[in-house]
Amino acid sequence: MMRGKICGTGSYVPEHYLDNHDIAGIVETSDEWIRERTGIVRRHIADNDTTVSMAIKAGQAALENGQVEAQELDMILVSTITPNTIIPCTACEVQKAIGAVRATCFDLSAACSGFVFAYNTAQAYIAAGICKTVLVIGSETLSTIVDWQDRGSCILFGDGAGAAVLRAEEGECYPWVTHSDGAKGEVLSCESRNQRNWQEKEQDRKTYTYMDGQAVFKFAVKRVPEVVRELLKKTELSVDDIDWFVLHQANQRIIESIARRMKTDISKFPMNIAEYGNTSSASIPILLDELNRKGLLGPGQKIVLAGYGAGLSWGAALLEWA
Ligand code: COA
Repeated sequence: MMRGKICGTGSYVPEHYLDNHDIAGIVETSDEWIRERTGIVRRHIADNDTTVSMAIKAGQAALENGQVEAQELDMILVSTITPNTIIPCTACEVQKAIGAVRATCFDLSAACSGFVFAYNTAQAYIAAGICKTVLVIGSETLSTIVDWQDRGSCILFGDGAGAAVLRAEEGECYPWVTHSDGAKGEVLSCESRNQRNWQEKEQDRKTYTYMDGQAVFKFAVKRVPEVVRELLKKTELSVDDIDWFVLHQANQRIIESIARRMKTDISKFPMNIAEYGNTSSASIPILLDELNRKGLLGPGQKIVLAGYGAGLSWGAALLEWA
């Protein structure tokens, strides 16, 4: 039996950022309101970067960190809801840039659950014996689909990319769980997309993201503890055995409420939302890379990844650090 082990991580965020005071110059809000309700202080916003350019930088950083050559890759999987182009896909653009000539490349669209869904897909290919080395990337320029006139949503989102390289090793597969509920899709939606910079005004309302914030909040705090319980039931582990819960970074209050509901110390839930806001499918790999580079991840540590978001969709995966 084969399973994928993360052997390298990488991330990249644009240099340019907007802090809460900058946002207060765009919509009627305040630094105090945003900090209190979300924990966000600033978010990085792409000026010259794109989903493709950030995916390439995060992917290269992960390969370097894992000492993996691009030619070794059997697959590149990019999770994004904000691709530069419809075709070719982002993963093929990454392949071209890094010279991963042997890799099969495709994108996956599952919004803020996207990294967990892509990670699980990579694990399934490895377990099936189809792939040995896979680069999984989450990259987003959410600033290009945010409604910059809606204070209820534009305060939340940021741009960035994160990546992990998986290498096959002998061993039993780690468990994962994923769910979708398309019937509730309207609470977080964006109907169509025009390529634009975040500062360009777009008349077509369909190209802006609509969000029912309270509905999404309630969904997240209910479903994440549920899916983690479901995940751990597949093992002999309890929440106390888990070293880190690396959750999608949507809102500090969501994460705090999840920790309370799971009766688990908040110190096991690392957060970097203050710096980046919600970067959708990039948030989990950016955080994982931060923990890795700070030396906080030790061999044998057990980590739960959990994502949740539009679709609606949610999922969790267990892994053991190398
Ligand atoms: N600044 C100041 N006031 C704001 C505001 C802002 N940025 N956004 C909303 N308000 C106002 C509302 O207009 C409302 O005013 P009213 O009472 O006069 O009508 C009041 O604040 C409360 O609004 P509400 O929507 O109930 O606030 P909230 O506590 O639910 O916080 C969110 C709003 C968006 C921060 C919160 O619902 C949230 O984070 N939801 C989850 C969203 C999410 O994570 N989405 C992505 C998931 S992947």
